[in-house]
Amino acid sequence: MRRRTFLRAGSLAGAAVMFRGVGAPVRARAATTLPSVDDPRYLEPVARADAIPQFVNPLTRPARLDLTCGGARTLVMRQTWQDLLGADLGLTTPVWGFGEDRRGWWDDSIRVSYPGPTIVARSEQPVRIHWRNELPSTHLLPVDTSLHWAFSHNDQTIDDAGMPAVVHLHGGHNAPESDGHPEAWYTPRGVVGPRFDGTAFDYDNSQEAATLWYHDHTLGITRLNVYAGLSGFYLLRDDHELDLIERNELPADPYELELVIQDRMFTPDGRLAYPDLPATAADWPGGPSTPPEFFGPVILVNGRAWPYLAVEPRQYRLRLLNGSNSRIYRLSVQGDWPFPITQIGTDGGFLYEPTPLDQPLLICPGERVDVVVDFRDLGGATFELTNDAPTPFPGGAPVAPPADMVLQFRVDQRYDSTRPEPTLPSTLRDAPFAVSPPPERTRRLLLFEGEDMFGRLRTLLGTVELGARAWSDPVTEDPDHDTAEIWEVYNTTADSHPMHVHLVQFEVLDRAPFTADQDPQTAALSNIQIGTREPPDATERGPKDTVHMDPGQVTRIKAHFDRRGTYIWHCHMLEHEDHEMMREYEVV
Ligand code: C2O
Ligand code: CU
Ligand code: CU
Repeated sequence: MRRRTFLRAGSLAGAAVMFRGVGAPVRARAATTLPSVDDPRYLEPVARADAIPQFVNPLTRPARLDLTCGGARTLVMRQTWQDLLGADLGLTTPVWGFGEDRRGWWDDSIRVSYPGPTIVARSEQPVRIHWRNELPSTHLLPVDTSLHWAFSHNDQTIDDAGMPAVVHLHGGHNAPESDGHPEAWYTPRGVVGPRFDGTAFDYDNSQEAATLWYHDHTLGITRLNVYAGLSGFYLLRDDHELDLIERNELPADPYELELVIQDRMFTPDGRLAYPDLPATAADWPGGPSTPPEFFGPVILVNGRAWPYLAVEPRQYRLRLLNGSNSRIYRLSVQGDWPFPITQIGTDGGFLYEPTPLDQPLLICPGERVDVVVDFRDLGGATFELTNDAPTPFPGGAPVAPPADMVLQFRVDQRYDSTRPEPTLPSTLRDAPFAVSPPPERTRRLLLFEGEDMFGRLRTLLGTVELGARAWSDPVTEDPDHDTAEIWEVYNTTADSHPMHVHLVQFEVLDRAPFTADQDPQTAALSNIQIGTREPPDATERGPKDTVHMDPGQVTRIKAHFDRRGTYIWHCHMLEHEDHEMMREYEVV
C-alpha cells in the first residue's frame, strides 16, 4: 500500500518523483540535466537538442492488441512516465498514453504507453472501444484559452471540470456518433461537450485494409493532447491482405513494423516543452499563446529519440505515419535511396502497383505511407534516414540539425533462413484506385491565412464565393448522401497544408497553378485563371484521406459521401486545426 500512496504523491508533485508506469519498480532518478539554451519562444530555458545522443536507443514496438475477431475493449487515457530520451541520461518524461483495462483477466494492471497499443482489426469485423478518460486535471503543456476551444462556451476550467478529451479514428469509415467530433469531448468528471454521445465508440470497419491511427481531437487543444502522447496505430486487415501475406507476397510479422515520426522539444530535466509565451497584443488577456506552427528539434520514432532499428539482410514492411504537429518530412538517406524501397500503400489502402521510389519521400502530418525496404545483400551496412524538408514547407528555412536525422537502420542481425523471403506481387489491387460514381457537383473551396483579434496568424478554410469562414459559421459543404463530389481547393496561403477529410478515402485528381483576385475584406476569389493540371504523384494514387495542398495551387480531390451525418474537414497541422483551420461538413 505504501507504493500506492507514493504513486499518488508522485503524480501530484508532477516531475518531483519519477517512476516507470504502474507496476514497474520505482527507480531513483539520476541527477543529470541537459545543457540548456534560451529560445525566444519559451519562457524558461529549454534543452539543447544536440546534447541528446542519436542512434543509441533501440526502436521500440508498440504492443499489439488483436481485435481481428471483433469484440469490445476498454482503453484508458492516463498519464504515465516514459524514458523517451534514453541514452542512459536517466531522464524520465511525463506523457499521456493509452492502456488496455484488463480488469477481470488474469492480469489486472493497466499498462499505459505512448504511443498507445496498436489495435489490429479486420475488415467487416465490428469493434467497440470504450475510451475511458482518466487524464489528470493539469495539462502537461500550456493551454491557450483565447482560442475557440472546449471550454469557450462555459466558465469552466480544467481544474474544476477535468481534462477534456475525445478520440478520433483517423481514416476510419466511421459513423458520425463514433467519429470523435471535436465537440464530443468529455472529462473524467462527466463534463461533456455539446456533441457528446457516449464514451464507447463503434467501428464497423467497413473498408479495405489500411494503416489507420487514433488520436485525440478535442476542440482547440488537439495539438497539446496529441503532443502529450495521445495517439496510436489501428491496422486494419482484410482477406486480400491476409492472402498476400499467406502467399508470401508481403513481409509479415516480425518483419512488418509500424513507425510513427514525431518532433518534440524538451526541458533540461526531460519534460516535454511547448511554446508558452504570451501574445504581444496590448489587449492580450494573459496566459500562453499558441504558436502559428510547432517544429521541434528532437525527432522521436515510436516515442524514442532518434532510435536505431537493427534488421536482418531481408525485406521489411514499414508502415510510416507522420504524427507530428506541423512538421513535414522529406525522407531519404542523404537525398538518395541506397537500398531498394517500394511503396505499396497510401493512407487508406494499397496502391495498384508496387511503386519503387526514386525520389525522397514526402510525408505530411496525418499521412501514412506503406513501404517495403530491401536490405538483402547489405549485411553489415548502416544507414541514417534523413529529412530535408524546410519549415514551413516548401518555402521556409532549411531544416537545422539535429532535426535532419530521423532513424538509423543497422543491418546487423543474423538472417533467419527459416522465414521465407517474400516476392512482391505485380499488382496489389484489381484496378487502379478510383472513386467510381460520377461527380454530382464540384465545390470550390479556399485555404486562407489572415489574422485573429490579437494580430496573430490565423489560418482559415472557406469557399471561393463566400471567402473565409470560421469553425462556428454555418455549414457550407453539404453533399447529398451517396453521391460523389469534386472538391477543388484553392490555396491562397504561402505554405503547403495537409488537408484531411473525415469519413472518406478520396482520390487525388490533379493539381494546377492558379491566379485570382482576392477580396481584401472577405478573401473571396474572382477572376480565377487556372494553369496546366498535373496528375498526382505516383505515391498518391491510392486511397487518401490527407493530402498536401501547395501554395498558389488548386488541388482537386474526388470523394464518395456514403454515410449521413456531421463530419469535419481540416488542415492536419495541429496548430492550424486548433486555430480555426477546420470546418464541419454535413452529408444530408
Ligand atoms: Cu487525424 Cu480530424 O484528424
Ligand atoms: Cu480523421
Ligand atoms: Cu494548415
